[in-house]
Amino acid sequence: MKFLPISLLIMALATATALAYDPSALQDFCVAMNSVSCAVFLNGKFCKDPKQVTADDLLFKGFKYPGNSANSLESKVTPAFVDQFPGLNTLGISMARIDFAPGGLNPPHTHPRGTEILVVAEGTLLVGFITSNQLNNTLLTKVLYKGDVFVFPIGLIHFQLNIGNTSALAFATPSSQNPGVITIANAVFGSKPPISADVLTKAFQLDKKVIDYLQAQFWYDHN
Ligand SMILES: *[C@@H]1O[C@H](CO)[C@@H](O)[C@H](O)[C@H]1NC(C)=O
Ligand SMILES: *[C@@H]1O[C@H](CO)[C@@H](O)[C@H](O)[C@H]1NC(C)=O
Repeated sequence: MKFLPISLLIMALATATALAYDPSALQDFCVAMNSVSCAVFLNGKFCKDPKQVTADDLLFKGFKYPGNSANSLESKVTPAFVDQFPGLNTLGISMARIDFAPGGLNPPHTHPRGTEILVVAEGTLLVGFITSNQLNNTLLTKVLYKGDVFVFPIGLIHFQLNIGNTSALAFATPSSQNPGVITIANAVFGSKPPISADVLTKAFQLDKKVIDYLQAQFWYDHN
């Protein structure tokens, strides 16, 4: 009995570590559960009892069909993050399918918790990311063709534009089960409640009329 408090402390520390960062797995898998009722271990989320886990828990079928790119951005991201694919829990990885109509754009955005590797399966994409202020906000950009692979380092603002005449298809692999997405325009001009126009007029060195216009737009989220 006297070992119980120590084991509880170790569990608490392990849990705190697990919640702070994508952890190294403590077991083969930890298929995430929403309910505690039939779950056993805690490591970021409740885990399905490993004895009950089947191959179906480690299968995601959501990439079978193209995402609907009939929107203002003419592109659609279909995420397979831990929320959509509970089998990824604790494994430090995820995926997304990105469909682009001709001219389709995945607009400037960042993933606060994941580096992203992207492979082009179909079409031609102009991609790029911008380095931090320390490196003078340098744009690193490339035209990618079918089979090309590009990496967007964690946290940096990046984009992909379909510059081909056909639709394009890419698959992205973030190094987190829950990389997060911050779309720059949506976050800055579409926050709820809105950021004070005094902040944005000074930050962007724009007339208040332009800021009012931008804040009045509907910033579609294609994720
Ligand atoms: C950034 O710009 C400064 C000032 O022009 C320059 O001294 C520095 O070498 C630049 N750094 C990089 C990484 O380009
Ligand atoms: C797209 O179509 C235009 C006009 O038909 C052509 O000039 C251009 O080379 C095509 N671009 C690609 C990437 O196929």
